[in-house]
Amino acid sequence: AHQWRGVVREYAERLPVTAETKVITLGEGGTPLVYAQQLSALTGSEVYLKVEGMNPTGSFKDRGMTMAMTAAVAAGAKAVVCASTGNTSASAAAYAKQAGLTCAVLVPEGKISMGKLSQAVAHGATILQVDGNFDNCLDVARKLADSYPVFLVNSVNPARIEGQKTGAFEVVDFLGDAPDYHVLPVGNAGNISAYWKGYKEYAAPYESATAGTLPAVSTHTPIMWGFQAAGAAPFVAGHPITEPDTIATAIRIGNPASWDLAIAARDESGGLIDSVTDEEILAAHRWLSAREGVFVEPASAAGVAGLIKKHAAGEVPSGKTIVVTVTGHGLKDPDWALKNVDGTAVEPTKVEFDVVTVARALGLAG
Ligand code: F0G
Repeated sequence: AHQWRGVVREYAERLPVTAETKVITLGEGGTPLVYAQQLSALTGSEVYLKVEGMNPTGSFKDRGMTMAMTAAVAAGAKAVVCASTGNTSASAAAYAKQAGLTCAVLVPEGKISMGKLSQAVAHGATILQVDGNFDNCLDVARKLADSYPVFLVNSVNPARIEGQKTGAFEVVDFLGDAPDYHVLPVGNAGNISAYWKGYKEYAAPYESATAGTLPAVSTHTPIMWGFQAAGAAPFVAGHPITEPDTIATAIRIGNPASWDLAIAARDESGGLIDSVTDEEILAAHRWLSAREGVFVEPASAAGVAGLIKKHAAGEVPSGKTIVVTVTGHGLKDPDWALKNVDGTAVEPTKVEFDVVTVARALGLAG
């Protein structure tokens, strides 16, 4: 029987590894590309969701972490560190265990969801809550790795981008060519940079370090559309933001590390980076769970929120193929699903254990 071998082994010819490399993996990648019935009906285009919540720790970060942890082991590291709004810390903590390394994570106090924190705790990471935001955490993590014997596994490490570019490969391999548009949330901007790198590499002959010249796989690259939360939208402002704020804590970032790469992805693809309000994010979050059957965390809905916003403005063409990456699982931050649109708590209906009462409650009996 064949089992998916994780992104490093599946795409080894296009990654900085050789047959001798000790690969650290939890079987990440190979995630479903789900046809979005309702978004397709809305836009008149074929809309697909790349459901990254199906990765081992529940987010796309695992694609980068398998490569980063593989690089850490190759470098002889004993300890890794990262700054995180939650998902990177969950992923780093899990992959560090697989690698036999110790892991420290720096997270903004009070601004990381319980699901993500519980993962870092469960995997035995040393968790340091910082009195500051993600940008402050990343600043400290970088300085720590510069001056002390710890290996940085944030996306400023190029190995992370290498691993995450496999998301683009999988989309093309499944669709048979690149989509016309690729839409995704933008926070620290590693993922938009990684997808763009992957799409570019698949659209041209590739000089593999281990397998010679590989032919182009796709005929073109997509237009990249990135969406930030309105309260944390430095790319829209054109400069870093000092006090980023949004309910989508995963993308509560004011000074994205991959600034130049994200601008290049936007401009080279003829795309855009725009923003969506928290209300638009929560509406898209609800749309995904209640209409498409796909449960994501709020930040993950920013791409869909952007697509719906652009459609309302008449800017989404019909007859195209559009892929939207939904980046993390709904169980990461489930509280939002338990609130009504007006913010009040969802109250379950209570019934006696009696079949007629249950039938009545379901409207099946008078
Ligand atoms: N969606 C989710 C669920 C995320 O966790 C992140 C980033 C993003 C989108 C944005 O991706 O940073 O590559 O532009 N989370 C990081 C973390 C910052 O620490 O987990 P990006």
